[in-house]
Amino acid sequence: MIILGIDTSCDDTSAAICDDLKILSSNVASQIDLHETFGGIVPEEASRAHYSNIDKIIKICLKEAKLELKDIDLVTVTNGPGLVGALLVGLNYGKSLAWSLDIPFYAANHLFSHVYSNFLGENHPELPAVSVVISGGHTIIGVVDENMNHKYLGSTLDDACGEVIDKVGRKLGLPYPAGPYLDKMALDGNKKAHRFPRPLKGREGYDFSFSGLKTSFLKEVEKGNLSDEDQYASLLMAISDCLCDRIVKLCGETGYSQVVFSGGVSASAFLRRELSLVMEKHGIKISFPELRYCTDNAAMVCASGYFEARNRNFEESKEDLNIDAYASYF
Ligand code: KG4
Ligand code: ZN
Repeated sequence: MIILGIDTSCDDTSAAICDDLKILSSNVASQIDLHETFGGIVPEEASRAHYSNIDKIIKICLKEAKLELKDIDLVTVTNGPGLVGALLVGLNYGKSLAWSLDIPFYAANHLFSHVYSNFLGENHPELPAVSVVISGGHTIIGVVDENMNHKYLGSTLDDACGEVIDKVGRKLGLPYPAGPYLDKMALDGNKKAHRFPRPLKGREGYDFSFSGLKTSFLKEVEKGNLSDEDQYASLLMAISDCLCDRIVKLCGETGYSQVVFSGGVSASAFLRRELSLVMEKHGIKISFPELRYCTDNAAMVCASGYFEARNRNFEESKEDLNIDAYASYF
């Protein structure tokens, strides 16, 4: 089944073509240069850039996959959560295309799609599993079962961990998004150089809170006692500890021994190293997406369409032609 996936939920115009879960082409028109001047994403600018990029990026995908529009069997597009104006560009493009080709159309949840990035390619994690999405907009933990039903049990009460990374990066003059730069420096740092707070660690429930950690970090940095490497290593260590606390607890309560990470922050080499160490100690298997499919992409959206198509027929898919974009999952 040839699937065209589209994601315009934030600042990347992404399109991909998969044959079931095999990626034939995947492209992202990044808007980093556009938003870097503002130090963050300007929603209206993002929508306009999606509008001028979307047709081009789909044509590039078709060319790379050596396919034509008539070869597509299914269109699937992210309808939320995200920036509504940005989402509408991809959503309306995808709906129109599916309708005109008279093929199924499925709307995709951006967070579930991140989880599916672990299922692209050959080696799939075991299910059921504990699922952790760590991105610029979300930090959520829950479970995903064998039928790809997702249940979220906790989320950040304030900043997402990627948001903390990008905000401190902005304050300290790192390029946007700060994640890759901060991560690289943290790898050379001493993770025990300073002990930052671990908000909500050991507390009831599964929620996270990172905004106090961000404030504490910025205050400490102002004192000027830590090298860049040490301060970033100590910051990521605090984030890792907060994540592990919830993961180990949820694995204990569910009896699951597999955890599936996804989202842009799961590309962090520092976090991969630290999370692996802790999970190994607890006998928990871990899965990360391939590096290039951690950050926003549309191959993961194709995977979402693949799993939807297993459960819903062509007639049911037509319901999604009426579906709207939405900003927030919770
Ligand atoms: O999943 P994503 O592309 O977008 C959202 O859905 O939010 O995640 C973007 C986030 C940004 O905060 C970025 O700084 C972070 O992922 N990120 C990283 C790395 N690469 C991207 N954080 C830490 N280490 C990285 N290597
Ligand atoms: Zn994302």
